[in-house]
Amino acid sequence: MAERIGVLTSGGDAPGMNAAIRAVVRAGIYYGYEIYGIQSGYNGLIEGEFQPMNLRSVSDIMSRGGTILKTSRSKLFETPEGRARAIENLKSLDINSLVVIGGDGSYRGARELSRESSMNVVGIPGTIDNDIGCTDYTIGYDTALNTVRDCIDRIKDTAFSHDRCSIIEVMGHHAGYIALNSAIAGGAEACILPEKPFDLERDIIHPLVACRARGKKLFLIIVSEGAYPSYKLAGEIQERMDITPTVSILGYIQRGGSPTVRDRLMASLMGVRAVDAVRNGERNVVVASRAGEIVTIGINEALEMKKEISPDRFVANSILSL
Ligand code: F6P
Repeated sequence: MAERIGVLTSGGDAPGMNAAIRAVVRAGIYYGYEIYGIQSGYNGLIEGEFQPMNLRSVSDIMSRGGTILKTSRSKLFETPEGRARAIENLKSLDINSLVVIGGDGSYRGARELSRESSMNVVGIPGTIDNDIGCTDYTIGYDTALNTVRDCIDRIKDTAFSHDRCSIIEVMGHHAGYIALNSAIAGGAEACILPEKPFDLERDIIHPLVACRARGKKLFLIIVSEGAYPSYKLAGEIQERMDITPTVSILGYIQRGGSPTVRDRLMASLMGVRAVDAVRNGERNVVVASRAGEIVTIGINEALEMKKEISPDRFVANSILSL
């Protein structure tokens, strides 16, 4: 009997997850494995929602956002009882490797599974936040950035016409990758990030007053969700500068949409690499992009790794917003 690999998506969906599923299914079948898709992430693993996948199950999905397998943030999987049920289901189908496409919370769940059973787990980084320490890149990030860039451009068109100050709040969980890089790409005057201690006078009022003195009439501020309340900021700017900022919270629009070439390519290559890891007998690893190479890293080591936004980018943003 052919060896079996399961594949699921977990956590927040991200554009490009479908390309990763397609790559796991196609590469897996090419190398002689049977592939099972698991619906709704770890919840489906617990509920036994498995479906055999064939080459045609993944036809014409690459251009679609979201995930055809659906996803969840499973509370039940955080309990030993939930994981025991998941392990039983995997055993009953003789699946001995599981590919998990998701963020580091999903990796932690996969690691528990590997500790409590003989299951071999392989992680593929999928999240718009780009906040997984072991990898330079996560699937979905480029599409989300491009969506934010598009929204910024549109908001700037109208803000220019009215000489307005716009506050745009973007996603990112506890990381400011989307915020800082969209601020640079969108030409923002200021940016508030979770990674950087915030001071209203120093980071917002002073730069905006200085910009105004240099003749600027259009101001754009990007706020990373949770870093500072956007409406409070609008009120404070109004009080101190006598201008009335508009607030746009972009929300879930950032998670949808057809993936960019970069996301499709990275997802495809990472999916193939995940199957290679199983073929090579690598156990409990995650696929990562590091210095332009697609590599694998042991899941324990991967979960210890941290990455930081380069301080050069903060500097670049303030220089370019002059
Ligand atoms: O992790 C991706 C993300 O979109 C974050 O940027 C955001 O904080 C979170 O998911 C929202 O999660 P949910 O879909 O559970 O509301």
